[in-house]
Amino acid sequence: MADYETHEHDVLVIGAGGAGLRAAIEASATGVSVGLVCKSLLGKAHTVMAEGGVAAALANVDNRDSWQVHFADTMRGGQYVNNWRMAQLHAQEAPARVRELEAWGAVFDRTKDGRILQRNFGGHKYPRLAHVGDRTGLELIRTLQDHGIHQGMSVYMECTIIRLLKDGDRVCGALGYYREKGRFVIFKARAVVLATGGIGKAYKITSNSWEYTGDGHSLAYNAGAELIDMEFIQFHPTGMVWPPSVRGILVTEGVRGEGGCLRNSEGKRFMFGDIPDNYKPQTADNEEEGFLYVLAEKFNGKDSRRPPELLTRDHVARCINREVKEGRGSPHGGVFLELKSFAEWMKKRVSSFDADSHWKKKLPSMYHQFKELGNLDLTKQPMEVGPTTHYVMGGIRVDGDSQMSKIPGLFACGECAAGINGANRLGGNSLSDLLVLGKRAGEYAAHFAKDHGAGTIHDDQIDEATRWALSFIDEPKGDENPYKVQQDLQDMMQDLVGIVRKEEEMVRALDGLQQLWERARKVRAPINREYNPGWHTCMDLHNLLTVSEAVTKAAIERRESRGGQFRDDYPKKDSKNFGKKNTVVWKGADGRMEFRWEDLPPVPDDLKEIIKQQGEGKLPEELQ
Ligand code: FUM
Repeated sequence: MADYETHEHDVLVIGAGGAGLRAAIEASATGVSVGLVCKSLLGKAHTVMAEGGVAAALANVDNRDSWQVHFADTMRGGQYVNNWRMAQLHAQEAPARVRELEAWGAVFDRTKDGRILQRNFGGHKYPRLAHVGDRTGLELIRTLQDHGIHQGMSVYMECTIIRLLKDGDRVCGALGYYREKGRFVIFKARAVVLATGGIGKAYKITSNSWEYTGDGHSLAYNAGAELIDMEFIQFHPTGMVWPPSVRGILVTEGVRGEGGCLRNSEGKRFMFGDIPDNYKPQTADNEEEGFLYVLAEKFNGKDSRRPPELLTRDHVARCINREVKEGRGSPHGGVFLELKSFAEWMKKRVSSFDADSHWKKKLPSMYHQFKELGNLDLTKQPMEVGPTTHYVMGGIRVDGDSQMSKIPGLFACGECAAGINGANRLGGNSLSDLLVLGKRAGEYAAHFAKDHGAGTIHDDQIDEATRWALSFIDEPKGDENPYKVQQDLQDMMQDLVGIVRKEEEMVRALDGLQQLWERARKVRAPINREYNPGWHTCMDLHNLLTVSEAVTKAAIERRESRGGQFRDDYPKKDSKNFGKKNTVVWKGADGRMEFRWEDLPPVPDDLKEIIKQQGEGKLPEELQ
């Protein structure tokens, strides 16, 4: 074996956003040695883009809330193709994880009587999002980071993993390179936890930054794990649309949670015309009623129906898309999000209400974001917003309790793992998911490491991977520019496998992907390994193409519309044929991507009863 820098740990965690940090903390707490690998700098993670809050049924603002309601909301939001066990554990354990975070130093906003304040968010029946202004994800990362670094874990920054190493069936480590100098590094590990986040960079318009190229999805897939439900992509309804350089940057749902209204170019609050039947009982049908919810603290235990802007993200994003397509959009291709109507309504009720200071206190990051990037004062002017690729519900198939994939010793948590969110994730559930299931992944990975000896690293796997990596510099097979291939992929996925999909377009995309695979084999990043981001893109491209192919294949097969998949050619849900199934892709023996349907495990009767009660006595077709 070549003489590469080598480290040995019981548990290796790949990815240092909220899920990776929480897993690493838990594994460390059991006394095993932990290595934590960050593609970027520690603390720079998509977790910070969950701005508006962490969902947990603390019932601080509305005492009707409970884990049962949270569970039912999560299943309904996911349109019942969720892994019920993950949804159950998540709802049950989220309150304890949030309180623990507080004990570790997270400074949440407070109710008047000093408890953690909670706000409304899309698809949550009661105000449930514990928050820190509009910087909740940032506070969560800061807290986990501060707590984590005192646990004795080793942190490897600016390091990208390119292969999982296996000894027979089980995982035994990983190979990576340091981004600065391009030096290879080997990690030996008894258990590996993937927590690499999402795939947003497969799309042109996204809230994700450069790190999110589907690395964990692709590493697991190439090591023999399965990916499920990859067709379900979350397009967050509100990203910035102007100026072009910041298109896609997130505008937190917290803006709507604090009273923001969506309007089209005719000034119409168009979401009032589009309330799905199963949300009608709890959705306001006029403006006055639609504002009362913001004052939920005053209405504890009483009815305060939420405005249609807080319907689930998949639905709101499609409505915005329709307004723009039908010519009622804003000048730069979005719609308007304004705070003025709520402020005027408040002013009539509370004469001392000062809109300027109120919004600066509630939404400080959004205020600065629009001021600095768009030269716009959101306390006075409407924002232009439109859908942005935010999150992938699909990912690595794992066991609900332990988070272990089908590969012994390989665990996954956070966005790169699948199941909890079904077809659509509710806002704020990502932060609670990464706390609850990140903790579980770390705990079970540590147990696995204690129960199993170290595997053997095989030289041929290292040689193959390093040769492949260096071929883009030393022996390129062509003269393609990796950035251009990435850009063409993003344009194609945005246009052909985006918010609204059609069979004929997606078949074209599959064909386009084959051509892009060919081009990706011919990319080159000449000269040397040091400070060579073009070389990194050559390798990232293979991950992006893998996940894009998985999304497209699964999206073609699911001939219905559900959550994050909307088919123009099959605009309705078809629960009879597709409502009890997951899509599954894996790498076949000949290296090609295989596909199959798999039945969801049946939901136990006691959980069905909860769903029935919360659904006004009716059980959805998927669960009958
Ligand atoms: O809108 C937001 O603040 C995003 C939250 C989330 O994705 O969970």
